[in-house]
Amino acid sequence: MSKILRIGIIGVTGRGEELRKYFHQPKKRAVVTAGADISLKALEAFKNANGNEPFVTTDYKELLKRKDIDVIVITSPDFTHEKYALAALQAKKHVYLEKPMAITTAGCDRVLKAWKSSGNKLLVGFNMRHMAVFQLMKKLIDSGKIGAIKAAWVRHFVGSGGHYYFHDWHGTRKNTTSLLLQKGSHDIDMIHYLTGSYVKKVAAFGSRDYFGGNKPNNLRCPACKLKKTCLEVDYSSMNRCCFRKEVDVEDNSQVIMELENGIKASYMQCHFAPEYFRNYTIIGTKGRIENISDGDTVVLKLRKKFIDEKKLKEIRYKVKAGKDRHYGADALIVEDFLDYLLKNKKPVATALAGRMSVAAGCAATDSLRNGGKMLKIKKAPKGIK
Ligand SMILES: NC(=O)c1ccc[n+]([C@@H]2O[C@H](COP(=O)([O-])OP(=O)(O)OC[C@H]3O[C@@H](n4cnc5c(N)ncnc54)[C@H](O)[C@@H]3O)[C@@H](O)[C@H]2O)c1
Repeated sequence: MSKILRIGIIGVTGRGEELRKYFHQPKKRAVVTAGADISLKALEAFKNANGNEPFVTTDYKELLKRKDIDVIVITSPDFTHEKYALAALQAKKHVYLEKPMAITTAGCDRVLKAWKSSGNKLLVGFNMRHMAVFQLMKKLIDSGKIGAIKAAWVRHFVGSGGHYYFHDWHGTRKNTTSLLLQKGSHDIDMIHYLTGSYVKKVAAFGSRDYFGGNKPNNLRCPACKLKKTCLEVDYSSMNRCCFRKEVDVEDNSQVIMELENGIKASYMQCHFAPEYFRNYTIIGTKGRIENISDGDTVVLKLRKKFIDEKKLKEIRYKVKAGKDRHYGADALIVEDFLDYLLKNKKPVATALAGRMSVAAGCAATDSLRNGGKMLKIKKAPKGIK
């Protein structure tokens, strides 16, 4: 492997462009030298942004054949993850794979097996683990401040649901399985991370209560008669109607979970909330902790007998968060991955974590589509840590 890692990206705009900026650091540890995408327009934008005449192709296999690429970054849509990850690992490349690892549990297990037999390195893009606010919560929880953890309540208000998830490929089961998987894989992973335990069983309820409908699948906002009054109008390129027939994923879901160490957790996700906000509340035997904004504030409250009356009953911590869309987490996850590749440092999220959040999301989806029955999470293949 060359000293400066040579990176090829599959899926070069959107998430690919967000990460490219951090992977392309030619004077330090990595250089982006190639990109594959099904869109020529995307490849053109990538070439211009990277500025070093990268190799570009519409056929990902051309990328994998190249000996001058050490690492493949997969930032194409969810339904491509398994196929590209398997091919990249078989081609003996290291892989950065965006979440979710795959859109089925069996798909994740195939990726894990390919990873094990390749001897190469694999990281799933759980950038939320690197957000300053959640790093602080993790530190406080692990220090024992709120005692032994017993409950985790997570609410995800997806204020931009229409904009992000219902105008494009995210809105169908064939592309994502469900938004509990697509969007929830982060949140379920954070429950795993903050509590230090994986989900053991789940039950869920959910339905499509707002998006979807009877509009033609090819209707786009600029051509729509209702564009002046529609709340979801979107003139960007991903502007297919949110109320089109093919939309079949739930927009309002609630999941209850029991974790391996007995912790009870719940997760709520609603795509027509007025604001965009995630609240993580973790309750222990001494107190509770929660973030009151994704970006910078954590509140800790202790039960009466653990309070020093001279001190405040509620402690507010402010963190310094980065200014990008993910509060500085994207730069940190790239450095974490490069440390894993170059220094063999254990990454903050393991490949197994990638699989376990999909397994919980898939089981929750099965439950909500089958009357809310309780389902056990399938075990990961033997020997995977
Ligand atoms: N970790 C995070 O914070 C985060 C944030 C956003 C998106 N994501 C993940 O990143 C992935 C991409 O999301 P996005 O919103 O950027 O998607 P997108 O629709 O913007 O597509 C990204 C790129 O992939 C290309 N593409 C589409 N189909 C392809 C195919 N079959 N083969 C190769 N390239 C293809 C597109 O042309 C585009 O350039 C998703 O899996 C999503 O879950 C993660």
